[in-house]
Amino acid sequence: MRQIKPDILEVGAIDWDRRLFDELIPLPDGTSYNAYIVRGSKKTALIDTVDPPKTDMLITNLAEAGIERIDYLISHHAEQDHSGSIPDILEIFPDAKVVTNEKCKNMLIDLMGIDEQKFIVVEDGQELSLGNKTLKFIFTPWVHWPETMSTYLVEDKILFSCDFFGSHLATSDLFVTDKSRVYESAKQYYAEIMMPFRSQIEKNLEKIKNFDIKIIAPSHGPLYNEPAFIIDAYKKWISDEVENKVIVAYVSMHGSTKKMVEHLVGALMAKNIGVQQFNLIGADIGKLAIELVDAAGVVLASPTVLAGAHPAAAYAAVLVNALRPKAKYLAVIGSFGWGGRMVEQLKGLLTNSKAEILEPVLAKGEPKEEDFKKLNELAEKIANKHMEYKAN
Ligand code: FEO
Repeated sequence: MRQIKPDILEVGAIDWDRRLFDELIPLPDGTSYNAYIVRGSKKTALIDTVDPPKTDMLITNLAEAGIERIDYLISHHAEQDHSGSIPDILEIFPDAKVVTNEKCKNMLIDLMGIDEQKFIVVEDGQELSLGNKTLKFIFTPWVHWPETMSTYLVEDKILFSCDFFGSHLATSDLFVTDKSRVYESAKQYYAEIMMPFRSQIEKNLEKIKNFDIKIIAPSHGPLYNEPAFIIDAYKKWISDEVENKVIVAYVSMHGSTKKMVEHLVGALMAKNIGVQQFNLIGADIGKLAIELVDAAGVVLASPTVLAGAHPAAAYAAVLVNALRPKAKYLAVIGSFGWGGRMVEQLKGLLTNSKAEILEPVLAKGEPKEEDFKKLNELAEKIANKHMEYKAN
């Protein structure tokens, strides 16, 4: 249990040991499931809960804080890492009402089997008095589910933002102390779950713009007592601006594709283009996601396996398609022995992308003089694109 201010407490759980989220997202630094108590002169609210395996920690923290009554359980988001302990909390505090929006209510009924009678449904902008403290609900959809919302504590100027502005970072720091570390974690978090909803996030940033916010209290990672730090970072990440950087993600079986990658990367570097090269076998998907936030383009490189792309390259294409980065162009290079439809297959996996698809470069077997020439031409084309996009 950690005190933010008198009567405003963080009572969630730090998950130091978790290493994977959704069986997909690497958590090199663990995470936390933040939950908050706001004690008003008349009513007490619990804002969000924790992931079910950490329910005991939430209950212990509530006991330690001397919380004998919860009137309102504010649920911002139905995903289980924040809502999973609601049924246990309702058992301990049977008079508590779950306060949320209509969409989240329906999801909580579907996911948790919570009794419909337990809910108070609120509208966007509605306020709820705790006596000397007022909660104002701000709907912030698609960060990263359609029902997500935030709460503004009017008197103390705190925005409880749930996943929005969060970071997967287990730390004993209540507030951000190491900015560069939090920036990286928050960027990775944005890349993995927020990036596909850039335009919605822009609307949400616009929506909170006129609130006087002194503290942002997300549901993962440390709190921000300099909100501009994370708000400005989000503005940069969602903007259309790209950096002078290409991601080259490859897999190679017998070395031909690798030779092509090395040649292309050398040609790009000679033109002062920044490159992030990933060997997809064993690559850290989180690091790849971070680079996707602002890279100008992506090159996927694959050999041909059983007439198609190597499954590792197909996985990368599916990931890029799901994360919908703002990359301006995509290219496929690779090798084949006797034929195949590798390029068509990868293109077919990238249907969400609005990026320009550049002419592929394919080598039959070992890359030869003419293949290297085509890779030089591709590097030239990429350099021109970067000038065009003013990538910097
Ligand atoms: Fe942290 Fe979308 O749950």
